[in-house]
Formats: sequence, structure tokens, C-alpha cells
Amino acid sequence: MPDNSKLRSLLVDAADRGVSYREAGRERAVAPSGAAVRDARKFVEPMPVDGSDDLAVLAMLDDVGSPATMMMTSPRYFGFVIGGSLPVTVATNWLTTAWDQNVGMHEITPATSTLERVAMDWMMDLFGLPADCAASFVTGATVANFTALAAARNRVYADIGWDVEANGLIGAPAVTVIVSEETHPTVFKSLGMLGFGRNRVVRAPVDQQGRIDISRFPRVSGPTIICTQAGNLNTGAFDPVGDICEIAKPKGAWVHVDGAFGLWAAVSEQRSHLCSGFTAADSWATDAHKWLNVPYDSGIAFVRDAVALKSAMTISADYLMTDTEFRNPADFTPELSRRARGVDVWAALKSLGRNGVAEMIDRCCDNAQRFASGFREAGFEVLNDVVLNQVLVSFGDDATNRKIIDEIQAEGTCWCGVTVWQGQTAMRISVCNWSTTAEDVDISLQAILEIVDEG
Ligand SMILES: Cc1ncc(COP(=O)(O)O)c(C=O)c1O
Repeated sequence: MPDNSKLRSLLVDAADRGVSYREAGRERAVAPSGAAVRDARKFVEPMPVDGSDDLAVLAMLDDVGSPATMMMTSPRYFGFVIGGSLPVTVATNWLTTAWDQNVGMHEITPATSTLERVAMDWMMDLFGLPADCAASFVTGATVANFTALAAARNRVYADIGWDVEANGLIGAPAVTVIVSEETHPTVFKSLGMLGFGRNRVVRAPVDQQGRIDISRFPRVSGPTIICTQAGNLNTGAFDPVGDICEIAKPKGAWVHVDGAFGLWAAVSEQRSHLCSGFTAADSWATDAHKWLNVPYDSGIAFVRDAVALKSAMTISADYLMTDTEFRNPADFTPELSRRARGVDVWAALKSLGRNGVAEMIDRCCDNAQRFASGFREAGFEVLNDVVLNQVLVSFGDDATNRKIIDEIQAEGTCWCGVTVWQGQTAMRISVCNWSTTAEDVDISLQAILEIVDEG
């Protein structure tokens, strides 16, 4: 029999521990200590024969697991491109987990599928996308790219009279896929999964910032899919998507935009020019777990041609409620069963409003500028034009950069990653946490520059 008092003490204990973890955010070193990471080996044990008390399971998770985590929620975590989860989204995520809804079908999950629909419409409004686009809530930009490109595959093949879902690609006519020299690896992964092949692509040359160089764009002819990017993972630069659409759309090509984080620039008055012409594209992929700061995992694909997306993803079976007047989420996603991740997006947008989202994006970009100015004033080279939230800085040769990055990661004030940009090793800083302040930037700059000075 369920025991409500046990249920309450367990879930309240989890909430308490979660709150303590978050409260320690600014105090704890960003990276876990070597001892804490070694301690995580305590989890490694043979499959238990007998069970354990639930509170003890939770206590072990917190006592052993929490210290061994990288503090990705820290305002001074600048690795990869990782947001920090707004408190309201953690709270609504917990409640949604308690609901435990499988949001594949509308009729059995009316609350969550309605919330997802609202969140999807709000995002289309924020990005200025056509209101009749279809959208899918998926795990992240990787699967959003995959989902959008599956719709592209459907439409481009349908245009030449080939039913790719029914007949597959064996014996199918060739389709040209144009990517850029800077296309994100997840797009190649998606192309591989879709049967296009990771290597059977035409690569458009890029400029110094990693943007497609429109003057050297390959000739578009025949059935074609073009993969563009909003926000280069190193520089933050944007492809000239409007110009590409002008060339490619009259020829019937499908233009896809990977805007994992960059698409959010469309919400900022100061930065929306970076996205100019983007709404002419056919599909867009983005992440909510990056710059919208909702908990992992959360990505969204938007597709102008709802029929193409639905044809690529639709599912039907006698036991499923597929014959319905409602929009069934599973008709638009690779999965049938999944968590209601759109609720976190709804919560973030409801809590921030358009102005709050724009302010968060601008604050991150301003803090990226602050980093860049601090490094330049100290005499170091910033390798990219800081147009968004990404900063690449070099302190000297390859070995020097790697040593400084290793040392700051170990020191713990902040966490910055390493990259190689156009042959040069650099420190890569991404500012996309809602809680990062100018003071966090100054504290981080000081810690990094002290390490540089110590040589
Ligand atoms: C431009 C771009 N595309 C795709 C991805 C993949 O996103 P995810 O890891 O959320 O699937 C990233 C991740 O950083 C990215 O920067």
C-alpha cells in the first residue's frame, strides 16, 4: 500500500537536498575535486540482491553524487554552451516529473500537450517564424536537426515523386546536401542517420569568423538540402541565411538552420539583425536547455511544411489513439513515449516574458563583451569578433593555452574549455547562464589572469 507520509518525507527530502545543492552554487569550486570523483566509485557495486530504504538511496545519491558533479548551474561555468536552469523551470520540472505524463498522445495527456502547444506557439512568435509551422519537442539540437532534416528529406523526395518513408533510399534518386566547412558535427550525425551519409556532402567555404562566404557558395541545382547555422560553436557567428535563401529557394532547395543557441538572438532588439532573413528558411533547430536555461534535456525543431514533418514522423496502430481531432505530439517527434519537456519551456517563457528573455540574452552577450575587453586590456588576443556570447582567447602557444586552461579548471573559480580555432589552440568561453553577473566575469578574469601571470 502507498504510504503518504513516507512519500512526503522522501520527496521533501529530495527537494531539500536539491535546494542545498543550488544554494551552494557560488561558494563551491565549479569542478568537482579529485577526491569526490574518486569517491563516485562507491556507486560501482554488483547488482543488489535485496533492496534499500528509499531515503537511504537518496542520501547516497546526494552524499556521493552531488560532490562529484560538475557545477553546470554555477554562474561561473563557461564550458561548451550550457545553460544553468532557471529556478522556476527546476520547480516545474519537479512537479511535471511527479505527474509522470507520457506526452505521446493528446487525449491521455491533455494538460501537458496543451502546455507544449502553447510553448511552441510562443517560441514561434518570439523567433518571428510563420504561425503555421509545426514543431517537435525533442532531447536537444542534435535530434532537432535530425527531425527537421527528416522532414526535408520527405519534402525534397516527394517533389521528385519518390516516397522515401515507404521506399527508403536504396535505389532512390540522388539529392545534393550542402553544408559548410563549419557545420556542427551533430548535423553530420543526423545526415548519417538519415541515410544521406556523413561524407556525401558539398562543403561551402567560410570566412574568418566561420560564416558561409556567400561569394563562394556552391551552385544550387536539382533536389537540394542546405544546412546553415545560427551561432558558430566557437565564434558565435551567423551564416548569411537570408542571402542563401534568396539564391536557393527559387530553385526549390530546402534551407535548414541549426540555431542551437544562436536562434535566441532573434529575441534581442540589439542582436536580432544577426538573424535577418532567417524566417525565409524551411526549418530551424534550437535548444531550450542552452540559452533558455531550462533543465536538460530540451530541444525543439520547427518546420514550415507541417505536412512534410508529419509524413516523416507519423505513427499509427490500432491500439493508439491516432484517429483524433487533436494534434498528437508523437506524430511530430521521433519518439512515441517521452516526458513532457515542453512544460519547462512554457514555465521559462511565462516567468520571463518576451522582455525577460531578451534581457537574459543581452546580459549574457554583454558579459561576453566584458570578458573580451578584460583580456584585451591585459594584452591578450581575442580571436573572434564577439557578436554574441562566445569568446575565444589565446595566451600564447598551444602548450601555454592548454596549461592555463587545465590550471583554471583545477583551481575552481570558474570553468572554461579548450578549442582549436583555425589551427590555433584557444580558451573558449560561453556565457549562457541566467545568473552570471558582471561581478562573476570580473572574479573569473582575475583568477584566469593570475594563473597567466604565475606562468
Ligand atoms: C550549433 C550547434 N548545433 C548543435 C548542437 C548540439 O546540441 P545538443 O548537444 O543540445 O544536442 C550544438 C551544441 O553545442 C551546437 O552548438
